[in-house]
Amino acid sequence: MQIIVLGAGAGGGFPQWNCDCPNCRRVRAGDPSVRPLTQSSVAVSADGQRWVLLNASPDLRRQIEQTPRLHPSGGGRNSPIRAVATTNADVDHTAGLLTLREAQPLAVYGTRRVLGVLEANAMFNVLDRTLVSRKPLVLDEDTPLTEQDGTPLGLSLQAFAVPGKVALWLEQPDLPAFGSVAEDTVGFRITDTATGAYAFYIPGCASLPPDLAARLDGAPLLLFDGTTYSDDEMIQAGLGTKTATRMGHMSLAGAEGSLASMAGLTIGRRIYVHINNTNPLLLSDSIERRIVESAGWEVGHDGMEIRL
Ligand code: MLT
Ligand code: MN
Ligand code: ZN
Repeated sequence: MQIIVLGAGAGGGFPQWNCDCPNCRRVRAGDPSVRPLTQSSVAVSADGQRWVLLNASPDLRRQIEQTPRLHPSGGGRNSPIRAVATTNADVDHTAGLLTLREAQPLAVYGTRRVLGVLEANAMFNVLDRTLVSRKPLVLDEDTPLTEQDGTPLGLSLQAFAVPGKVALWLEQPDLPAFGSVAEDTVGFRITDTATGAYAFYIPGCASLPPDLAARLDGAPLLLFDGTTYSDDEMIQAGLGTKTATRMGHMSLAGAEGSLASMAGLTIGRRIYVHINNTNPLLLSDSIERRIVESAGWEVGHDGMEIRL
């Protein structure tokens, strides 16, 4: 199984269009200690020829052009991208579906709740239903992934509920948890059906309850929510009013953070993705980067490739 991190950034990317914070300023200036990041997506393939996107970001068009293995070939209209699965209905995970609208067969996977959001938004009708099938994922069940015509892709996908919330643009302020239900935010376990190799991809997760920790223990690879280093990072920087937890993301630092709460887990490789532009770990010369790396984590970047 091959995995390419297409975008290791969170919503907004790095730099973010309207942000002149010290991090964004450094990356715009071409500082060699920081890499720009596009928004949150990875590509996975069992055969190296046909690819599944986990999340479709607003930067997808650029991500495809930057990744020759995702280019069409042999003349005419075609694409190595055969399926897309989304972990939630956030803009950074679904807007890229609109980029895939040029009459190309495709299978789109999501929980019934997330597919319902796409269904309710008429703009996604640009994905011609005669060519683009929408296939539900049932929580905690392995679904063999196929192309639109049913041809197996050699991968299976299991969606499982993780602590989180409904997409920002669907929040209902008056309801408990803003109207969130379990199927609004999921993690993925993707498995190569021939070799049994598997990886977890969890770009949004608000906390680590014991059952989730047990699920992740022993995994060969984990790509995990690295949105912010500290919970109140955006507030401290004067760039926002919400904590990471309020946005559905657990921070890295602190007793409840991902560094401490996963320290006792056995995981082959652990890599942060969905990294917000405010996170100091984006600076390769920061103390936070040293802390994260000495805790055994890697910092994801666009174009990062992993073989399992
Ligand atoms: C998130 O990860 O919290 C969302 O991407 C926020 C957003 O929609 O900008
Ligand atoms: Mn996001
Ligand atoms: Zn910034």
